[in-house]
Amino acid sequence: MRDRLRIALTKGRLQDQSVELFEAMGLDCHPIREPGRRLVHTIPNYPLDVVLAKAPDVITYVEHGVCDLGIVGKDTILEQGGSFYEVLDLGFGKCRFALAVKKGTDFYGTYKTRRIATKYPNVARSFFEKKGMDVSIIKIEGSVELAPILDLSDGIVDIVETGATLRENGLVPIEDVASVSARLIVNIASMKLNKQEITEFIDRCELELERRR
Ligand code: PRP
Repeated sequence: MRDRLRIALTKGRLQDQSVELFEAMGLDCHPIREPGRRLVHTIPNYPLDVVLAKAPDVITYVEHGVCDLGIVGKDTILEQGGSFYEVLDLGFGKCRFALAVKKGTDFYGTYKTRRIATKYPNVARSFFEKKGMDVSIIKIEGSVELAPILDLSDGIVDIVETGATLRENGLVPIEDVASVSARLIVNIASMKLNKQEITEFIDRCELELERRR
């Protein structure tokens, strides 16, 4: 058992809003605001250390118990799965998974096996399985919108936030796949071993989220 809790924060898009939430909870986050090349940060006025990591690694660290808590997008949770408690919807990092196609395409109007490009093959596979549709999934690492433009795929399953990327590339969303937002996750053993500390942290988060509503 550690004497301080450790939380993994997703670097990038969710990082600023996570820090804003912590500051609103009264945590002094100046070490994270000026991180330099350091990867582990100590919160001076709360028994919490903060690790900055890529989204899939946040889940890995929490699952393995080297971090008690994590903040990660539901997109990564849906894609990667894993054993942990998902305790709070933090209400920021809101976007959605959507199926999108080239404008004017009749995606459903054919019996051919449709090709779907995505960074999220598990999410896409389970979406089409539920529909009983046979699709061929092509894994792409980034800028998935290129796939239908280059005629590599008939559609994409991807994150849509403002919709600007789709619009500017002549694509349109035709169906929602799932809603996404940032979630607070907790290691299963830590929840028992550090119940009091973790419950107090969750309560402070909830109080701030309540205040925002
Ligand atoms: C995500 C997503 C879309 C874009 C959607 O990509 O894959 O491309 O954001 O946002 P919008 O609806 O507001 O335009 P990201 O910026 O993470 O880059 P990547 O595709 O290169 O991974």
